[in-house]
Amino acid sequence: MGKRIGILTSGGDCAGLNATIRAVTLRAAQDGWEVLGIHNGTSGLACDPPEVTRLEPARCDTWMLRQGGTILGTTNRGAQEDAVPAILRGWRGLGLDALIGIGGDGSLAILRRLASRGGFALIGIPKTIDNDVALTEAAIGHSTAVQAATEALDRLQPTAASHSRVMVLEVMGRDAGHIAIAAGIAGGADVVLIPEIPWRLSSVVSHIEAVRRAGRNFALVVVAEAVAGEDGAPVLQPDAAGRRRYGGVGHDVAAMIGDATGAETRVTVLGHVQRGGSPDPRDRLLGAAFGVHAVELVKQGRFDRMVAWWNRRVIDVPLEKVVRRVRSVDPHGPLVATARGLGICLGD
Ligand code: F6P
Repeated sequence: MGKRIGILTSGGDCAGLNATIRAVTLRAAQDGWEVLGIHNGTSGLACDPPEVTRLEPARCDTWMLRQGGTILGTTNRGAQEDAVPAILRGWRGLGLDALIGIGGDGSLAILRRLASRGGFALIGIPKTIDNDVALTEAAIGHSTAVQAATEALDRLQPTAASHSRVMVLEVMGRDAGHIAIAAGIAGGADVVLIPEIPWRLSSVVSHIEAVRRAGRNFALVVVAEAVAGEDGAPVLQPDAAGRRRYGGVGHDVAAMIGDATGAETRVTVLGHVQRGGSPDPRDRLLGAAFGVHAVELVKQGRFDRMVAWWNRRVIDVPLEKVVRRVRSVDPHGPLVATARGLGICLGD
């Protein structure tokens, strides 16, 4: 009998979400199944009637591969307790056989709790520019974010050289330094500071001075947003809802470098530029592979699992093991070793 699958995106958007939605729709259509796109994460389920769009395979043309953001909308406000009964009512009212939730670790944990309370069948697909979801080497959106950060370094280099400046680029990543280390290597940074490796100003200053002594008039510094600032604590900004978000540590680091070296410094906080834009081929490919595999899991009746990328293969892992962990940059892993091998200063 034909199934009806719901799909939603939850948490911060990123590039590659529409490619994933397209893949789920196209694969499900092969078995004659219907796919309902739920609007704005679980908020769409809580509406009466639930806000959904029937995803027609004929309309899932290749534009979805190229389109950034999410056509379904998303929210990073977790489901409030008082909305839970409405969400579960929405689910039952739609008669869904399974829900495919595309989210980061926080969203997947929330969806899993809802699924167990409502007794519904859940499959998770990992997405986040931060690439910090456990048990997968890659999450949708990370590669495109690294491309944006690398391009920023490519653009900062000539202006740094023209003005003999130290350019500090602050990148996102929440508590993980995956974007910073990858873009720092790809973009030729002199210094990369990540939250996983505590840093000392003296180490950064002597590296920049050594760069200058060697005859170079500029330096590029990448700082992950969760790195500790001057007072040893992360730099946080309140948002309109009163929540604290990372942002601004690049200014602290630049001021400290400027004071200690006398160099002219400038700061770029790259921000949401890393989340938008057209997905790169890797994120399109990952979205396609994850979407197809998620529908296969529904077909096999294997729920409470997350699709994952491991050793150049798509696999699936228990969601239970994903939601309690975060994947940080391994200080002894290959990217850190590569950075050290290139002579990049990691601040330690
Ligand atoms: O988790 C993705 C992410 O972009 C982080 O890198 C960043 O810290 C955060 O979301 C920003 O969230 P918001 O879009 O709510 O400002």
